[in-house]
Amino acid sequence: MKILVVGSGGREHALAWKLLQSSQVEQVVCVPGNGGTANMNRCRNLCLAVDDFEGISNFALKEAINLVVIGPEVPLAKGITDYLNSKGLKVFGPTKAAAQIEASKVWAKTLMQEANIPTANCAVFNRPTPAKSYVKDHGVPIVIKADGLAAGKGVTVATTKNQAVEAVDAIFQGQFSKAGEFVLIEECLSGQEVSVLALTDGLTIRALLPAQDHKRIGEGDRGENTGGMGAYAPTPIATVNFMERVQKQVLEKTINALRARNIDYRGVLYAGLMVSASGEFKVLEFNCRFGDPETQVILPLLETPLEELMLACIEQRLEQMPPIAWKSGAAATVVAASGGYPQAYEKGKVITGITEAQAQGVTVFHAGTKLDRQLITDGGRVLNVTATGENFEQALRLAYAGIEQINFDRMYYRRDIGHRILDFGS
Ligand code: AMP
Ligand code: GLY
Repeated sequence: MKILVVGSGGREHALAWKLLQSSQVEQVVCVPGNGGTANMNRCRNLCLAVDDFEGISNFALKEAINLVVIGPEVPLAKGITDYLNSKGLKVFGPTKAAAQIEASKVWAKTLMQEANIPTANCAVFNRPTPAKSYVKDHGVPIVIKADGLAAGKGVTVATTKNQAVEAVDAIFQGQFSKAGEFVLIEECLSGQEVSVLALTDGLTIRALLPAQDHKRIGEGDRGENTGGMGAYAPTPIATVNFMERVQKQVLEKTINALRARNIDYRGVLYAGLMVSASGEFKVLEFNCRFGDPETQVILPLLETPLEELMLACIEQRLEQMPPIAWKSGAAATVVAASGGYPQAYEKGKVITGITEAQAQGVTVFHAGTKLDRQLITDGGRVLNVTATGENFEQALRLAYAGIEQINFDRMYYRRDIGHRILDFGS
């Protein structure tokens, strides 16, 4: 099989790496890929934009690509799956209609409310004045969200009324362009966040191992939000009983509600849950794609060949597949970021020590790197240093032993990834 993976981050490197472990997969092409995918055996990059549907389609048809896997949400929301399907290609990733579950928070919230899926209470506004009076009446903390895709920046958890009002203004003043036509104001939930990613063919839905990520830049989970500074799986917070409840109360209800809207959802459904101390959960968001960096800790534990699962989703025969098989133990990843991230940072720094890190037994997924004769930084999140072990202590110790070998000018990483798990276990 020849597979094309669309995207350029750590998630796409992990997808390509996992797919290449199967004896059925001869070659993977990443569009546009990164320095890591450029360097992997039987893998190469193709320099096209992720939303160049025509370019991707022409290449895939010419090269007789058997499966196209879409990483990021933007091409999904723009309808890449519909386009490639219309050319006769097999695509893992939901259609434009289905991707609304991530691309419009108002749409997703309406679906959850109608299907009785546990989620935070919320009100929707299309003008600033009533939105601000709602903030005044409800007080803080309160959560302000832009409706559409905003590259992870459209949510403010406001702890003062001023912050809330500023967030409302920023959205209506067009900071997120079309994403900001509507504002959602939500009750603020507290607890721990758990990411449950599930594979679905539109009829059957099966959860992958539950993961947790660390979104804040600073140790102790403080400071600005980022795309994710580290992750681990399977989180012990999501017990067997918890996962059974998520299956019934979130995953199956969502697929049924989508079907009732004539939406045949095939791909990954990612439910971001807030879990209270007593184990109650509510959905914070849905994503229509694999999580990043959650994928980098879920896939190293997956035994079942990934392309078999993806094809079963596309061909709507997930129910006939044996249960998804997992390795025992745990996986953890630590993100090496550029100094300054998530604010402004420099690119083009030479990266050293990856071979030495790999010699320790870690897998280094590249997120923002480029091969330009030598390997250089090319993004805010640069590398995901990933390890598996019999337990979290082992996986985390190994990931840190690996990252200590790596260096680039102003490299930054958090030293406390997994602290909630280690606290949980003690
Ligand atoms: P979202 O894109 O809706 O998941 O929001 C991004 C992040 O904002 C989440 O991962 C949470 O950390 C936070 N967040 C979103 N909604 C809420 C909420 N209702 N209460 C507390 N935190 C939230
Ligand atoms: N790790 C959060 C996300 O992928 O949206």
